[in-house]
Amino acid sequence: MKKVSDETYSLINNDIYDIEGDRWWHPDFSLNLIRTLYNPFRVNYAKKIINQLKVNPAKTKVLEVGCGGGIFIEDIAKMGLITTGIDPSEQSLNIAIQHAKENNLTIKYEKGIGENLPFQNNAFDIVFCCDVLEHVRDLPKVISEISRVLKNGGIFIYDTFNRTYFSKISIIKILQEWKRWAIMPPNLHVWKMFIKPDEIRFLLRKNQLDWKEHRGIKPDISYLKMLRYLHQRAVGELTYVEFGKKFRMVESKSTQIMYMGYAIKNNNSKNT
Ligand SMILES: C[S@@+](CC[C@H](N)C(=O)[O-])C[C@H]1O[C@@H](n2cnc3c(N)ncnc32)[C@H](O)[C@@H]1O
Repeated sequence: MKKVSDETYSLINNDIYDIEGDRWWHPDFSLNLIRTLYNPFRVNYAKKIINQLKVNPAKTKVLEVGCGGGIFIEDIAKMGLITTGIDPSEQSLNIAIQHAKENNLTIKYEKGIGENLPFQNNAFDIVFCCDVLEHVRDLPKVISEISRVLKNGGIFIYDTFNRTYFSKISIIKILQEWKRWAIMPPNLHVWKMFIKPDEIRFLLRKNQLDWKEHRGIKPDISYLKMLRYLHQRAVGELTYVEFGKKFRMVESKSTQIMYMGYAIKNNNSKNT
């Protein structure tokens, strides 16, 4: 697996996190759907892995790569872990810093990109990268950087989109392009940048990260119902707040659209 071509990378609109980065916590805005629809699943998954692996929060240093406005990392900080977030978007970081302060949360935020993490080797016990891997220019470099900053035995937890026919129809066509249902900005995601589970497994193996599992993610309502709510949102019959109360993302047997998983750093692994 190689980094994406310049042509493909030029299509994704990562500028949105600067232009609209002040709205992460605004309840009636699309970015906030991450918090209402998706975050509870991701945070529960992270908690499950952290508990299974008997992590002591007070002694555990955590990094989120691509933290945006801090929606995910705030919930991790509330569990008592020592947290750092990095993101290339200054506007998003400013909002994250302000929101953490208002909520008395201690989170260190820094500007940076996944391809060149501004940290020493073995600096963290856990690295999260949620809804970010499909946004980066050089995925192999990001995975190698994540492995570099993880201690031996450290945990890498991630979620991303699969590159399948179903994800093209649902995430690109329905959510972004077809006016009848689209509620997300065009080019928020670019299908060619989605990642097949085998591709991520290959990169993990190459970087001494022992892959453990993938869990599929889906809405807890039928796709037909979801289309109805999307249309109501698209034509303004539902606000984002109302839309965000209609369903939740939950675990699915199918990884066809989205999936979450984890790996453990193992310095003794052969990087073949
Ligand atoms: C969909 S948001 C996810 C934010 C956060 N992880 C969450 O789930 O709430 C994608 C984030 O990835 C960041 N990003 C884009 N390119 C990146 C890169 N090369 N390295 C790190 N973060 C990046 C964006 O600025 C944006 O904040």
